[in-house]
Amino acid sequence: MPPNGTDAAMDEITAEPDTVHPDLFRRGMRSLFSGVCIVSSRHRGETVGLVASSVTSVSMEPPTLLVCISKTASAHDAVHSSGVFAVTILAEEHAEIARIFSSSRRREERFVTGRWTATPSGCPVLSDAPASFDCRIVQTIDGGTHTIFLGRVLGVETRAEPPPLVYGNGGFGAYVPHAV
Ligand SMILES: Cc1cc2nc3c(=O)[nH]c(=O)nc-3n(C[C@H](O)[C@H](O)[C@H](O)COP(=O)(O)O)c2cc1C
Repeated sequence: MPPNGTDAAMDEITAEPDTVHPDLFRRGMRSLFSGVCIVSSRHRGETVGLVASSVTSVSMEPPTLLVCISKTASAHDAVHSSGVFAVTILAEEHAEIARIFSSSRRREERFVTGRWTATPSGCPVLSDAPASFDCRIVQTIDGGTHTIFLGRVLGVETRAEPPPLVYGNGGFGAYVPHAV
């Protein structure tokens, strides 16, 4: 059996009669506008991170959130092995950092630009972000190409509300609230 995330695994998925091609699924999901986060971790002295929009609040008590990380992402195994991760919610002014953390070609540039600090569990977060969360992994779920990590929230930092970074239709942008 080939590992998930390979072409063979993709063939298995699309071979199911009542599902759709991943490209069609991707095209539909372009219309879902979302906030943008960096999920980061630290394992054996190495810091890892990626841009993720799949961050969701799961439970208030106990405070729990989830993130879906591709099994092919360079951060995947380090997040899994370390048992901890942090989520930084990005502001509009962090658009360049988001580009760096969503491009494999720019992996070496990560954690260079920006004001990074460490959470108590050792994961890097941006000190000028609207909010950041320090999490301990309490459950992992196989989600096909992605692993779903459920994290118990151990700590939260919040700051005055800078305009958030938004992603949709394949690009980064700004949030424009309706006038009241
Ligand atoms: C707006 C946006 C949201 C993303 N959300 C996720 C996500 O939730 N999970 C994921 O695994 N990859 C997500 N990605 C893709 C990763 O950020 C991207 O593949 C990154 O390069 C992975 O790191 P790596 O190149 O070091 O493997 C997203 C990309 C963008 C632009």
